[in-house]
Amino acid sequence: MSSLFDFDKPADAYAVMGNPISHSRSPQIHAAFAQQTGQRIVYTATQVDPGGFEQAVGNFFANGGKGLNITVPFKTEAWRLAGELGPEAERAGAVNTLLMNAKGILVGRNTDGIGLVRDILHNHGGSIAGKKILLVGAGGAARGVVQPLLAEAPVQLLIVNRTASRAHELAADFNILDNKTTLITGSGFDDLATQHFDLIINATAASLQGEVPPLPDETCTANTWCYDMMYSAEPTPFMRWAEQHDAEKSVDGLGMLVEQAAESFFHWRGVRPDTAPVIQTIRAQLLNA
Ligand code: ATR
Repeated sequence: MSSLFDFDKPADAYAVMGNPISHSRSPQIHAAFAQQTGQRIVYTATQVDPGGFEQAVGNFFANGGKGLNITVPFKTEAWRLAGELGPEAERAGAVNTLLMNAKGILVGRNTDGIGLVRDILHNHGGSIAGKKILLVGAGGAARGVVQPLLAEAPVQLLIVNRTASRAHELAADFNILDNKTTLITGSGFDDLATQHFDLIINATAASLQGEVPPLPDETCTANTWCYDMMYSAEPTPFMRWAEQHDAEKSVDGLGMLVEQAAESFFHWRGVRPDTAPVIQTIRAQLLNA
């Protein structure tokens, strides 16, 4: 509850930690959320040296900090450091959000997957329930989104990866869950044969190298939605591949970025910001840069 004297209190402190960090849009996104919802926070970006992560987190909370976002390369370390994990974070093996609960326990959450799901469902009007999904990649980015995708009850989740063994391992990790709805399998690109999918999600780092994962043409039909977890001003190489294959829709991951931030904000402040104007602002900045 607010009081007449609230203005005497310093604003609650939040930060994103990573290395490098100067490119991070999180301070801008959270400042926009705070302004929109009337929450008094300060949100900064902190570059942390390799080996200094645990200390940096400890110092931040000891100094009264309220919450952290964690980005490359510290998401796995944050997962290990957390004393308690959200259900979505357990098998993700990575944490992008930290907060201290009332008992003084460091709680780790992973909002990336829910960010992806919300972007697909709410911002783009897509559906996941009952759909056949191809998840491309088996690294940290792919692992982080599997549980929230499964929670939407697709009929199939096929994980495909350049190194097929990693795809098999990731599928096996989620097959031990009590899941009767979704057929979860792993595969290499060569074994995809003539299958086609309702939704293809690119969670590889290929776009960063200007490359497209070697997907067979048949995977994409005129009814397929293609989602690249990367984003940029220009359509990504994977989005161009989707357009060449007459996909129904091809989108980048800017909405996911803003949605994962909104979910973190909700965990910290208990308030859900409106993401649409923030996505719009960042898109405009990207296009005008
Ligand atoms: P991240 O945390 O971003 O997922 P990662 O764990 O290094 O990073 O995983 C990178 C993912 O992108 C992997 O699935 C990787 O495939 P491999 O497991 O075979 O290495 C995939 N990847 C990277 N570059 C790729 C490319 N040019 N084509 C296809 N897949 C690529």
